[in-house]
Amino acid sequence: MFGGTGFLGRRIVRHLRSRGFPVRIASRHPDLGDRQFGPDDPQLQSIQADIQDERSVADALAGAYGVVNAVSLYVEHGQETFHSAHVESAQRVAAQAHRAGVDRLIHISGIGADAASPSRYIRKRGEGELAVRAAFVEALFIRPAVMFGPDDAFLNTILTLLRRLPIYPMFGRGATRLQPAYVEDVAEAIGQIMQRAETPSTIFELGGPRVYSYEEFLRVVAHQAGLAPRLIPIPFAVWHALAWASEILPSPLLTRNQVELMQIDTVSSPEVPGFVELGITPHSVEAILQKMLPNSG
Ligand SMILES: NC(=O)c1ccc[n+]([C@@H]2O[C@H](COP(=O)([O-])OP(=O)(O)OC[C@H]3O[C@@H](n4cnc5c(N)ncnc54)[C@H](OP(=O)(O)O)[C@@H]3O)[C@@H](O)[C@H]2O)c1
Repeated sequence: MFGGTGFLGRRIVRHLRSRGFPVRIASRHPDLGDRQFGPDDPQLQSIQADIQDERSVADALAGAYGVVNAVSLYVEHGQETFHSAHVESAQRVAAQAHRAGVDRLIHISGIGADAASPSRYIRKRGEGELAVRAAFVEALFIRPAVMFGPDDAFLNTILTLLRRLPIYPMFGRGATRLQPAYVEDVAEAIGQIMQRAETPSTIFELGGPRVYSYEEFLRVVAHQAGLAPRLIPIPFAVWHALAWASEILPSPLLTRNQVELMQIDTVSSPEVPGFVELGITPHSVEAILQKMLPNSG
């Protein structure tokens, strides 16, 4: 499980374990894996691995039945670029998995991945999918919509800003459509896909139960939090400049790839399998928010 210490990855680990799979978490910070999952499960192993390094990828895959790649990179720095993380390393995992005789490869990408996109981030996600399929023909692709959960960076940032700002600046006119998915539902889908008998290469797009415009989404979140913000449109060019400046910080509040993703609709296509085909009824933002907000529910 590459990326098993991350926001989505640690949930995938739990869902795989609950289905009886022994799991090896491969990340650069195995101590984090140990801390997150505790020492009591003998079927859970945390090992040091860097997806940029061929040898450590090969070692991590030794003897594995399946592999999930949920590694992310949201800001480029030094040798870590969108190309190295999302294309070269994704290809490395797929090629090494093929070489090691791994049965099942699940590659996590994102709705909107497109090798022809003008956005470097979105293009590299698309190129990554193509490179993975070329190296491992039966690879399975999961494209989640933007994900939410109690410890996310998405809803929590919106809530913090809604509470603090007298006026709320929207991405553009707030017309971009999004279909947020609950992170536990996505992890459940991946657990299920890992266990399925058949393995034809398939793309799954996992979007939540409702499509919102960004403005609608903000109003729903604000309403549920008992807030009535004034929403004002801010041109994307301004957001790009802010994101560029923010990326200088060690933990950027906003990244350029987030802005680019807010310029395209990230909604699942009806022709592509998703939660329905997997028999999963996805949770709504409203239901999870109710549990997250201190004075509701
Ligand atoms: N979050 C969303 O809303 C969202 C939406 C759509 C798609 N996705 C996709 O879902 C996947 C998981 O995203 P996330 O938000 O869960 O990411 P995350 O919380 O940032 O976690 C990233 C994981 O990648 C690992 N990692 C990063 N660089 C690595 C390297 N060089 N070698 C080994 N491991 C490395 C990190 O572990 P260490 O740092 O310990 O190595 C961590 O476990 C990504 O493909 C992302 O693009 C996310």
